[in-house]
Amino acid sequence: MKIKRLELTSFRNYESLRIDLEEGCNIFYGNNAQGKTNILEGIYLSCTTKSHKKSKDQEMIRFGDDEAHLRVYIEKNEVEQKIDMHLNRSRRKSIAVNGQPIKRAAELLGIANIIFFSPEDINMIKSGPSERRRFVDMDLSQLDGVYLSSLSQYSRSLEQKNKLLRDASYFEDPSFNGMLDVWDEKLIEYGTEIIKRRKDFLEELNLILKEKNREITGLDEELSCDYEPDTDIERYREKLFSGRKTDLKRGSTSTGPHRDDIRFSLNNVDLRKYGSQGQQRSASLSVKLSEIDLFKKRINDSPVLMLDDVLSELDSSRQRCLLSSIGNIQTLITCTGLDELIKNDFIKDKVFFVENATVIKKERSCINKL
Ligand SMILES: Nc1ncnc2c1ncn2[C@@H]1O[C@H](COP(=O)(O)OP(=O)(O)OP(=O)(O)O)[C@@H](O)[C@H]1O
Ligand SMILES: [Mg+2]
Repeated sequence: MKIKRLELTSFRNYESLRIDLEEGCNIFYGNNAQGKTNILEGIYLSCTTKSHKKSKDQEMIRFGDDEAHLRVYIEKNEVEQKIDMHLNRSRRKSIAVNGQPIKRAAELLGIANIIFFSPEDINMIKSGPSERRRFVDMDLSQLDGVYLSSLSQYSRSLEQKNKLLRDASYFEDPSFNGMLDVWDEKLIEYGTEIIKRRKDFLEELNLILKEKNREITGLDEELSCDYEPDTDIERYREKLFSGRKTDLKRGSTSTGPHRDDIRFSLNNVDLRKYGSQGQQRSASLSVKLSEIDLFKKRINDSPVLMLDDVLSELDSSRQRCLLSSIGNIQTLITCTGLDELIKNDFIKDKVFFVENATVIKKERSCINKL
């Protein structure tokens, strides 16, 4: 699959933008705060309904404007698809595929799959558990419709239940217990789907991970990831109900997949606790490269890869490894300068210079002189 064209109106710092993308590698370079990441965000949002930064819809509308419009043209199996999205300050966003309005995010599933790689991903192993859950959520929400809807229903139910917990402890009224039971049943229903699917996904990823890490480090060491669910499915109900008293005091739910974690280890040693910075970075890179393989297998097509400012975070051998692993999948790269790419002999296809929300295509002859 490939993203062929992007059009933005009143989105972030863009008043109006229209760019045609190349099949292979598209590089966006320019100084800080000029609008490079905003381009990737615009595409990611259009294809998945969510910002990779978890920004709210209203925050992405250009300052001073009331609504934003995004349009992407995607080609998949030689069929062109068009996604339109309207963000509005006072209404929910609306989305249309090929001119037909859609109601649920799941209806976008399968049109475009994107693997997003940002500096947060490089630090994923040493960060807190939420960063590790984020990468699983971002991937599975694109691959699995049941996961996507379970996750959104779970989050909504959790929010409602936590609100009720706070009200219940404020009013000290036992009649709240019945209502809390109802929310707990919903949490168990959706949470169980989430746990099952995270387990399968991480097992599948684990099978690829070891090999990728060997490619990157050239060392015969075993990288693995293990799902550490907060609770297993069998004991979920019991744990949830037995924690009620504490939850009432805390005003939040202490059991469930919102507290899951993933353990990465190298030769059975926990990388988060004992790994060096370099080992942690190599492992994160291995995870990203494994995700590409896993997507290819699951969707029977190539995903689009977005590398937002990651090259400068990697040393030259890891940069080379990443660039040489890309193969022929469409890739969108943002960076502040082209040095690293020129050094790695990786100036290909299209190069765009981004300055103050203006995107200028650079000719090859121009780049060689930079
Ligand atoms: N809703 C908005 N309306 C107008 N401008 C916005 C909006 N949201 C963000 N911006 C502006 O967009 C710019 C940031 O754009 P972006 O994150 O794409 O920069 P970048 O080129 O990726 O920079 P860096 O190299 O630092 O990552 C900032 O100047 C910010 O003020
Ligand atoms: Mg950026």
